Amino acid sequence: MKSNQTTKDTFAITTPLYYVNDVPHVGSAYTTMAADAIARFERLRGKSVLMITGTDEHGQKIERTALGLGRDPQAHCDLIVAEFESLWEKLNIQYDRLSRTTAPRHEKIVNEFFQRVWDSGDIYLGRQQGWYCVSCEEFKEERELHRDQTCPLHPNKQAEWRDEQNYFFRLSKYQDKLLALYQKRPKFIQPETRRNEVLSFVSQGLQDFSISRVNLKWGFPVPVDPSHTIYVWFDALLGYITALLDPDSEATLENALSKWSPINIHLIGKDILRFHAVYWPAMLMSAGVPISDGVFGHGFLTKDGKKMGKTLGNTLDPVALVNRYGADAIRYYFLKEIEFGQDGDFSETRFINIINADLANDLGNLLNRTLNMVCKYCGTKVPNIQGDNIPSDNTLKQIGLSLGEQVTEAYESLEFSSAADAILALIRSGNKFIDEQAPWTLYKQGNIAAVEQVLYSVLESVRLAAYLLSPIIPNISNAIYQQLGFSIDFNDKTAVHTLANFVAHSRWGSLPPNQILGEPKPVFRRLELPEAI
Ligand code: MSP
Repeated sequence: MKSNQTTKDTFAITTPLYYVNDVPHVGSAYTTMAADAIARFERLRGKSVLMITGTDEHGQKIERTALGLGRDPQAHCDLIVAEFESLWEKLNIQYDRLSRTTAPRHEKIVNEFFQRVWDSGDIYLGRQQGWYCVSCEEFKEERELHRDQTCPLHPNKQAEWRDEQNYFFRLSKYQDKLLALYQKRPKFIQPETRRNEVLSFVSQGLQDFSISRVNLKWGFPVPVDPSHTIYVWFDALLGYITALLDPDSEATLENALSKWSPINIHLIGKDILRFHAVYWPAMLMSAGVPISDGVFGHGFLTKDGKKMGKTLGNTLDPVALVNRYGADAIRYYFLKEIEFGQDGDFSETRFINIINADLANDLGNLLNRTLNMVCKYCGTKVPNIQGDNIPSDNTLKQIGLSLGEQVTEAYESLEFSSAADAILALIRSGNKFIDEQAPWTLYKQGNIAAVEQVLYSVLESVRLAAYLLSPIIPNISNAIYQQLGFSIDFNDKTAVHTLANFVAHSRWGSLPPNQILGEPKPVFRRLELPEAI
């Protein structure tokens, strides 16, 4: 994955295409915030980025939900898609494509792809017997279910017995090819624990899986036999390919694959790993389409240490969260506090404590007090110093000079939490540095050169931190940059991409001397716990 990231100048990243049976939940928001942070980082360093998100709208689950609500399925999907769009706007997600599987152009891609797989001899009609979990939209082995045939992921829903004719995809044919792929590309599945899970699953032998359903109307008809409907997962995975089409180009596989393929990375939750790391590459091999560079399976979120669920009555509504606390705080908490790949927890008290400590106290206050000192001791300009002329034993310079590289590596490996930790370490050193250097005393002693050096070093450290944190907290980064006298808008994706000079901006010491500073204002207000909680 990494080698490709550094050699191609395009970068395509996907979130899962979310089911529209319900309004978006915090799990969907989590993957999307992570994908957005990576997309922003890649844009910042000058890549052409295509960030894909979308919705998975077909299948029994959606059909039943819509009918249960007395809605036409398409009208239901449209309503829920609007909720996703609104959440992405609130969370400041800069997606380039929203791939809807009910789009007419998607059907064209699905048909063409199906034909290719058919021509490879990988589809046949067979008998499917087994337990089907409608909530997972997946057949389950008896041993995967509880004794009462409920699935562990949906304990209040019973799997349904099915015995029907289905079209099958010859997955078994791809076992060796998949194992060879995992061997040749050790980073194809990340993190390592997920890779091991998949290796052991595939090594045990693969069974063909059914890619059509009967008694289901809500989906695309199988091109060779319209009495069958294409299985929702076969259709949904192809939504990634449809998303690669330019909006005005004809829906053909050739067009879809012309610019962005292969996709650099699919971000998903660990529950849908098999579909992405086993079924998907095998389908692509069968159709002769380039395999994506990698799949990253993140962990699951809990609330106050407990599994979230509607029946448990403890869901976490991402819309309420972002309305209450704003996008940056939410993005920061989930990306900084939870190691990407591991399970993680949300507790409101912990959230507030962390955000106040890191963003309001450490980062915001450092900028504010430093700017006020600059105004008092040096006028309203950045001190007249070149970063390169600051002595190399300056603590902040020492940390700052290697930070860009360190953070780049962390973002490349999707280690958001390490990236933010490293940046915050510079900020904490900045606070310590200013206390130790005591520019107020130096000023009284008449040592203006030293005052200027101290204040320049701190301002430059805050600038670098804001720059490197901009994929995570773009609004705060904007506020900091404005106060430092820049006019860059980290939310303007065209400008960020065109003006990209990552090497210069990510280097400590690039704050222009004498730049006119903005008015010092708090960049982030402390959060309060709502009284009702
Ligand atoms: N429609 C499929 C994906 C098709 S991709 C071609 C699907 N949709 S989903 O809406 O049910 O799930 C979307 C994502 O949310 C999955 O990656 C899943 O792992 C994630 N999460 C669901 N609950 C979650 C948590 N409690 N925590 C973190 N992520 C969770 O699956």
